[in-house]
Amino acid sequence: MSQSTVRNSINNLDTPALLLDLDASDRNISRMASFFADRPAKLRPHFKNHKCTKLAERQLAAGSIVGMTCANITEAESLCGVGVENILIANQIVGSGKIERLVCLAEQCKIAVAVDELSQAKAISNAAAHRNVTVDLLIEVDIGMGRCGVAPGEPALDLAKQIVDLPCTTFRGLQAYEGHRVYIDDLPERSQLATQSMSIAIKTRTLLEDSGIRVGVLSGCSSATYKITGCLAGVDEVQAGTYATMDWRYHELVPEFEIALSLLATVISCRSDQAVLDVGAKGIGAEFGLPRIKDHCEVEIPFFGAEEHLVLHNIPDWRVGDKVEVHASHACTTCNLHPQLFVHQEGRIVDVWPIDGRE
Ligand SMILES: Cc1ncc(COP(=O)(O)O)c(C=O)c1O
Repeated sequence: MSQSTVRNSINNLDTPALLLDLDASDRNISRMASFFADRPAKLRPHFKNHKCTKLAERQLAAGSIVGMTCANITEAESLCGVGVENILIANQIVGSGKIERLVCLAEQCKIAVAVDELSQAKAISNAAAHRNVTVDLLIEVDIGMGRCGVAPGEPALDLAKQIVDLPCTTFRGLQAYEGHRVYIDDLPERSQLATQSMSIAIKTRTLLEDSGIRVGVLSGCSSATYKITGCLAGVDEVQAGTYATMDWRYHELVPEFEIALSLLATVISCRSDQAVLDVGAKGIGAEFGLPRIKDHCEVEIPFFGAEEHLVLHNIPDWRVGDKVEVHASHACTTCNLHPQLFVHQEGRIVDVWPIDGRE
């Protein structure tokens, strides 16, 4: 893209176009980094939020960071490709092809991966031995979310005992995500229940340590619980992700972070009582609620699900061709639907960043 195009106003973009308000995102990133600057826990931002290495580089530059978290091998490869040296894949990596990619990464950076049963750890250990590399392992403990993870307490201890001596892997510690507590709107209730859940992981940590197994790290937490579980003694790493871009749903939970991500769309059809935008389910992640129109809370969206259309009711004086910014309820799935972020400052495009960690 030429310099002159880059200087353009967002209003000249073909739509739908995913926008990132650089100043708002920078403020979010620096707010989170400052929060952890003098605290024992440090950040390991979750790359799955935006999958954009340029944005990850800004998170790393802001400080208070031990490395990056990611959700899969492709994300880890993208991060490693731009020189990120310490990467945690907070999920299980299963299957010979993916494990081969994992051990290749271990030749280039320090890589850790979550496991919740012995077979996963053994497969990684075997592949790592062939390449003469070491992969760090974190045992994922299910602290109530009911997703992956071994049961806390004795089952986690049993697994740790079985994996500590595997060749070419190092048992580093525990992974525990309190995802079932993140979307509780009432802050005192969220605090109480998230603390309860993370305490289960902390107790498991103590159990392992009392049994003579070194637990170097307990990694977990989110953008909506960073001030809660991220401040508990025994938690070392905070895997917050969404704070960098935000979405309207998370903004309700942690209003101190600004919504930096929006979708620019065009009114393609209009009548007195409704307008239709040129973006639908193929461009907006809506798992946590209907999209919302930036600066127009009065606009109603009667339904969502059309692939390329968003119907709006109760509209202001819009005409065909007008540009409208839409806020998604889920930034992570929204970013995953787009090839690039148009980065702007007060509506002037200053850069275009590829969303290069997509599968
Ligand atoms: C393993 C893990 N850690 C942390 C997070 C928190 O990320 P966010 O701050 O975007 O909610 C998630 C979110 O899905 C996750 O799956």
